[in-house]
Amino acid sequence: MGARINPSLLAADFASLGTELERISSADAAHVDVMDGHFVPNLTIGVPVVERLQAVSPVPLDLHLMIEDPDRWALDYADLGVWSITFHAEAVTAPVTLARRLREKGVRAGIAIRPGTPFEAVEEIIGSFDQLLVMTVEPGFGGQSFMPETMPKLRRAAEYAKRTGLELQLQVDGGITSDTIGIAAEHGADTFVAGSAVFRGEPSERIAELRAAAAAH
Ligand code: DX5
Ligand code: ZN
Repeated sequence: MGARINPSLLAADFASLGTELERISSADAAHVDVMDGHFVPNLTIGVPVVERLQAVSPVPLDLHLMIEDPDRWALDYADLGVWSITFHAEAVTAPVTLARRLREKGVRAGIAIRPGTPFEAVEEIIGSFDQLLVMTVEPGFGGQSFMPETMPKLRRAAEYAKRTGLELQLQVDGGITSDTIGIAAEHGADTFVAGSAVFRGEPSERIAELRAAAAAH
């Protein structure tokens, strides 16, 4: 299977989210950044807006919760029927329990780590998850530069999954462009979140470019 491209709606026009979703119908999923102004110094959207996105989206929704206390809030999003929910290792209290509850609701469970959090912080629990999100910028804002220093831990995660036979989707998020996507693919990523690289331009063309660049690594 080729690279999965999940455009981030953070770089879309928030006044026209329905139309923006139509423009990325060739993507594998729409990445939806939920920020609470506490876990990260930025605020985006919550349950009512995600509910409407889920109702109209031509592609599955891949939620990235950058919020405190996901133990309390993640299930509200799961009840909307989204495809996947990723919460942060640095914010969660009972990650394995939360992953199990998400899966019970038919939602793929993901765990995210900030640039400063090592893979080893989640190694023991990663078997309870469907996807690992390695942040390649500090979470909070779009348009930042890719941090190559996160690549060694991405490789360690990929090697761990291979060694243990774990089916784990490996996502990268932040500063992914046609120039950086190959490096991330080389280190084991299979799913690429891109905000500005997709929406600054014609999204369907940008998605095709990213796919080609990932395949050429
Ligand atoms: C950042 C978000 C990302 C963001 C990526 O905290 O998690 O999903 O939209 O934006 P770009 O691709 O512009 O770095
Ligand atoms: Zn994100």
